[in-house]
Amino acid sequence: GKSGYDHYMLKEIHEQPTAIRKCLRERVNELEGTVTVEELADLECDGPVQFVACGTSYHAALYGAKMLQERGIPAQCFLASEYDVGKIPITEETLVVGVTQSGETADTMSALRAANRVGATTLALTNVVGSSAARECDHVMYIRAGPEIGVAATKTFASQQVALAMLSSVLSEESSMEFVKRLRDLPDQIQKVLDEANAREVAEEYDGSDAYFFIGRGYNAPVALEGALKMKEISYEHAEGFAAGELKHGPLALVTDQTPVFAMLAGDSNLSKTLGNVKEVEARDAPVVAVTDSPEEVGQFADHVLEVPDAGPRFTPILANIQLQLVSYWVANQMGRSIDKPRNLAKSVTVE
Ligand code: F6R
Repeated sequence: GKSGYDHYMLKEIHEQPTAIRKCLRERVNELEGTVTVEELADLECDGPVQFVACGTSYHAALYGAKMLQERGIPAQCFLASEYDVGKIPITEETLVVGVTQSGETADTMSALRAANRVGATTLALTNVVGSSAARECDHVMYIRAGPEIGVAATKTFASQQVALAMLSSVLSEESSMEFVKRLRDLPDQIQKVLDEANAREVAEEYDGSDAYFFIGRGYNAPVALEGALKMKEISYEHAEGFAAGELKHGPLALVTDQTPVFAMLAGDSNLSKTLGNVKEVEARDAPVVAVTDSPEEVGQFADHVLEVPDAGPRFTPILANIQLQLVSYWVANQMGRSIDKPRNLAKSVTVE
């Protein structure tokens, strides 16, 4: 059941500390500062990594690819429906990682099967034991989020992010005390976000807006995309997310005093640049909601602040995403939407 929550989505948002603890269990060693994923003991990878995924899982892949790149591993992301092994460089050295919560998404399965046919190594990053992706790939890593009933992916996205962080460490054979401690601290930090969240007030403030925009840079860029996807799925309102730097290359034309802009300023290592983008939207009178671990630095540029703890540059965006999940939830709730089963959408998309 819903354990007293009005919707599965809200329950699953609140399950994130537990989901992340399960994802980390017996995989991180805080005393030694190491990461070991038992399922991947015989995975060998010296080549480039290609991620294939759809929707929210694609956003997780974008986030994961950045972590691999930071560790010196060439990584690319493909929307599974656009993946064409006949047109891209792929060899037997390539590791193709399918990021798929259900393990049944048709587009992702086609991409993984195509990769198998050309002899690449395939890895499924999935939540569902025994799913098609788990069965058909050479390797599987489970995200262990537990069943997700709400059509909108929430806890599984956070679990994918954490699993991808561990995968980046396994593939690069790099870890550190600090990295492992940051991972171990996440569940408590997520709990703090959930306990102190003022997302509902912010949602109430911006009811009836013409559109919602989400911007972020670096690790925050995929979170901006995910924030917009969540908003459009469950509130049916127009929402767009983009890399902060892209704002002035087109989307700025849409920004008015009726379009709140959610600025992800969470662990941003280029904070002054992103603040420059925030000033551009402010000059067009757009309301600004800053999602940040640095309220004292950015508060003066924002109409509202959604605060998150500092989890470092890699992980603070995971916390920022939790705030966005809550904002979307409360906007949709206020509008009386069918939150757990949004119109036109299915949990598992088994047609191409
Ligand atoms: C969004 C959402 C979808 C899925 C997508 C891929 O909330 O749930 O965008 O992320 O259909 O599904 P999986 O991860 O099962 O392959």
